Amino acid sequence: MDLSFNLCPLHPSGLRLNNPVLVASGTFGYGTEFAELVDIKQIGAIVCKGTTLEPRPGNHQPRLYETAGGLLNSIGLQNIGVEAVIREKAPIWADWPVPVIVNIAGETVEEYGKLAQRLDSVRGVSALEVNISCPNVQRGGQEFGSDPRQAAEVTRVVKTSTSLPVIVKLTPNVSDIVSIARAVAQAGAEALTLVNTLRGMAIDVERYRPVLGGITGGLSGPALKPVALAMVYAVYREVKIPLIGCGGIYSVSDALEFFLAGAQAVQIGSATFINPATATKVAGDLEQWMKKRGIARLADVVGAAHHRT
Ligand code: FUM
Repeated sequence: MDLSFNLCPLHPSGLRLNNPVLVASGTFGYGTEFAELVDIKQIGAIVCKGTTLEPRPGNHQPRLYETAGGLLNSIGLQNIGVEAVIREKAPIWADWPVPVIVNIAGETVEEYGKLAQRLDSVRGVSALEVNISCPNVQRGGQEFGSDPRQAAEVTRVVKTSTSLPVIVKLTPNVSDIVSIARAVAQAGAEALTLVNTLRGMAIDVERYRPVLGGITGGLSGPALKPVALAMVYAVYREVKIPLIGCGGIYSVSDALEFFLAGAQAVQIGSATFINPATATKVAGDLEQWMKKRGIARLADVVGAAHHRT
């Protein structure tokens, strides 16, 4: 069965993927370690760790804390910086049978433009995922993703700075996700990732202190899934660009919920920490599920939950 499809049909060159199961930014590093553990050609695309202009050391430890039904992270966008990504990682990606999407994060609108320009035409980089949704940084991040005007401005600047397909990753920490999604689509985004993590925290009752070094963090995992799903469902009704569902996807059944809500692709995040091969398993199970039901095209499933209301 052929699950390959074009994730960004609005882009002149498109973005062809082998299947609709991607791995989420921040959960798969730069892919290089995982490439020794899993068959990466069975993954739709790899989204690398959020990349900034300069290297970042990240937030104080502890940065991870497991909660009931989820995982809190407060990494603070630790990364090696765009120049090292171009020098050390992109040449490796250029030989891979799977597209790599670079997640970019800036503190200012200009920084997003510079990152997009710098990554343009770099061999090994297939698309950009614009991160306006990180809840763990003092400047930038979800600040841009919480306001339709600023979200659109970042998108426009990135679009004018690159010829690569542009995907924008939105935050769930807003009251009206549809207005943000609409503004970003109108500004030229070719696809949306829905959603990043929910802001949350945990407190150490022995020490009377917040557990995380960054005080608050982003909640991912099963607890996030119903929230992410409702956002995909709402945005699908109003915004006509491809959606990538993300949030608590651990199995093909979780992924199917997102497809039925309107996502054309999904990203696996926290589940990779339990089993690095979750994405390849979900992709394989999806194929089996479709075969068993005689479904030839995933497109017949996408958004189908809307026809039954
Ligand atoms: O803290 C972090 O590095 C998280 C990044 C993100 O959620 O995009």
